[in-house]
Amino acid sequence: MILAELTAPIQKDLKRVEQTIAETLRTDNLFIQQMVDYLADSSGKRIRPALAILSAKYCGGVTEETIALGAALEMIHVATLIHDDIIDNSEVRRKQKTLNFKWGNEVSVLMGDYMFASSFYLMAKKLPKDVLGVLADTTNIICRGEISETFHRFNAGLTESQYLQVIEEKTASLFAASCRTGAMLAEGDETVVESLYHFGWGIGMAFQVIDDTLDFVGKETKVGKPVMSDFREGKMTLPAIHCLNSATKEEREKLVEIVLSKVKEESDFGYLNSLIEKYKAIDFSIQKARAFVEKAKRALSSLNDSGIKAELLQFADFLIDRDF
Ligand code: IPE
Ligand code: IPE
Ligand code: MG
Ligand code: MG
Repeated sequence: MILAELTAPIQKDLKRVEQTIAETLRTDNLFIQQMVDYLADSSGKRIRPALAILSAKYCGGVTEETIALGAALEMIHVATLIHDDIIDNSEVRRKQKTLNFKWGNEVSVLMGDYMFASSFYLMAKKLPKDVLGVLADTTNIICRGEISETFHRFNAGLTESQYLQVIEEKTASLFAASCRTGAMLAEGDETVVESLYHFGWGIGMAFQVIDDTLDFVGKETKVGKPVMSDFREGKMTLPAIHCLNSATKEEREKLVEIVLSKVKEESDFGYLNSLIEKYKAIDFSIQKARAFVEKAKRALSSLNDSGIKAELLQFADFLIDRDF
């Protein structure tokens, strides 16, 4: 199934999320407004609002609050992307030039702050305190993940479990919170809220593992952002970690040297690719992602079946099969 089909039943709600984002960000400051408009020209997949809406629907229904939640989640996400692109020195995002490319790092840091602040303004105005608490904690955790990842750049000794902790913090936490808070607003039973939280966590883990494999095997025109960039920037992700774990002593020494070098040559990428091939590192990573999706699905197994539950399960499958 493709994403457009999956989100078709909630298109109206997502449209309202879009409007809420635009209204929240609207300002009479022309410098800011031109960047807000630029960002609005190219939207992403809107997965986090979609998860919040589906979770709310599963538990009872979508309200004005759910729409505000969807908008707030997306704005937290976009704020992290703006800052992430500065850290990664990235020039393309969502098939267009990044803010940092167009307006420079200084303005972009501040624009990321504006995005965070706008999100929290909306939450404080529209959402109950318990939901606000979850999202404040989650934002904290995301920052922790991004900071750890940045400290670990060029760390050839990064273990698989350290990697998993980073992606749990920077990505899975927000997926989990999207499901959880969507369910909380719809007053789902505690066990249902908890199950949806675990579901979100599992698909969030899978989502980042797939993102990291797409960095090696994806097409820039499809994913809308540069590929082969994590390794270049010194980010150790699962395919590279798997190669280091599987390599012979000689291969390992050579690979470590490449990881540590700040400027990587074409031949370095060629060498890494040959190891990825040899040790089937992409298959290995996809299997890992699949295992997280299975775990996510199991979290829903004790919940009553419904059309919405089926949609959530299909969503989980999409996250594995996607090529963007
Ligand atoms: C990108 O997230 C950052 C990761 C967590 C991998 P998305 O792939 O959801 O980005 P958009 O919102 O669709 O652009
Ligand atoms: C970023 O992960 C996740 C965030 C929480 C910002 P990535 O660095 O893999 O995201 P992309 O690939 O730039 O979208
Ligand atoms: Mg990045
Ligand atoms: Mg990535």
